[in-house]
Amino acid sequence: MSCFGSVVRLVSQAQLSCIRSKPLLQKICSAVSVATRRQHVATQMSAQEEKTKIPVSSHNEWDLLEEVIVGRAENACVPEFTTEVKANTYEKYWPFYQKYGGKPFPKKHIQKAVEEVEEMCSILQQEGVVVRRPDVVEWEKAFETPDFKSRGMYAAMPRDILIVIGNEIIEAPMAWRSRFFEYRAYRSLIKEYFTEGAKWTAAPKPLMSDELYDMNYPMHSVQDRHELAKKGQFVTTEFEPCFDAADFIRAGRDIFVQRSQVTNLMGIKWMERHLGPEYNLHQLTFKDPNPMHIDATFNIIGPGLVVANPDRPCNEMHLFKKAGWTVVEAPTPTRSDDLPLWMSSKWLSMNVLMLDEERVMCDKNEIPTMKMFEELGITTIPVDIQHANSLGGAFHCWTTDVRRRGELKSYF
Ligand code: ARG
Repeated sequence: MSCFGSVVRLVSQAQLSCIRSKPLLQKICSAVSVATRRQHVATQMSAQEEKTKIPVSSHNEWDLLEEVIVGRAENACVPEFTTEVKANTYEKYWPFYQKYGGKPFPKKHIQKAVEEVEEMCSILQQEGVVVRRPDVVEWEKAFETPDFKSRGMYAAMPRDILIVIGNEIIEAPMAWRSRFFEYRAYRSLIKEYFTEGAKWTAAPKPLMSDELYDMNYPMHSVQDRHELAKKGQFVTTEFEPCFDAADFIRAGRDIFVQRSQVTNLMGIKWMERHLGPEYNLHQLTFKDPNPMHIDATFNIIGPGLVVANPDRPCNEMHLFKKAGWTVVEAPTPTRSDDLPLWMSSKWLSMNVLMLDEERVMCDKNEIPTMKMFEELGITTIPVDIQHANSLGGAFHCWTTDVRRRGELKSYF
């Protein structure tokens, strides 16, 4: 709801009570003057509101969170087992992909995930955050473009596809064929934000023809992938720009990005040129055989405060030391193997959502991680989304912050 709308309503209520309590002539006079005043206030407010209250406004990962999009597990489908999917999944789950690719994830598991995410939403609401959800979409439906055929995946991870930079909401082009049409689940929301004043951009849609992928990408062992990643060789080529929004992480005027299995150099270049000189885009590299989405590797949680994955050291750490940032190593995850992680590592433990600088939504079961936050003076809001985690993300991935109260600043 726009604030402009609420101002108008407020004033008309005042007008109404005025009319009720006075004789006819006075009633008319005061109604006229209230109407004039109302118009005056409305114009005054609208100019002011336009500047300050566009529904989309977020500059970093930690300012006070006011509105958030939380993904959905409903109808989630396992992506077809194509090259780009294979390059990014653990061998242990390959038989699962062979069996379920293009079909829904196991029903009971999804039901549990749906319930967990509902609970997460109500906790966010209790913390004062407005929660919005994408549309329910039939992801299993087959589709065809002139370049390829596929079925969809899900709208579980808004972080992967949407990034808010200031008043602008950007739809990422994506790199997996199964995610080509994922933006459709968010269009109702985005149109609403656009109507209320947000800037809306869809990055160039890739063709996703065979040329975007290294079809011979050798991926038999983690060792192979380590070697290839070190050489800057990934499953996506430089045929055309592609990126997932989750390979970017924001700290005001400085935005950090990694070249990953789904974000190529052309994609990074597109973003850099699109953002222009107001922003500094820094490319980071990590010792990671499987880079895909930066937020379980290097999670910026405050002004000059990072939680870093000790298994995936950053090769540019000196830059952060020089800037006087504090880098805290994430504790080893404690998750058991009882529930599958079809699309990620256990490092989801560090994939937390900051509600402001002093409150963090994190995994109820990851005790060492919670302790780390408490030692940093950050209050934990523990939530259990273990089944939802199986779809490839924790609290940061499952959300896109639409509005955080704060201004554009430099921290780096
Ligand atoms: N690739 C990361 C890992 O396995 C998971 C990142 C998930 N993030 C996301 N935005 N979906 O550790």
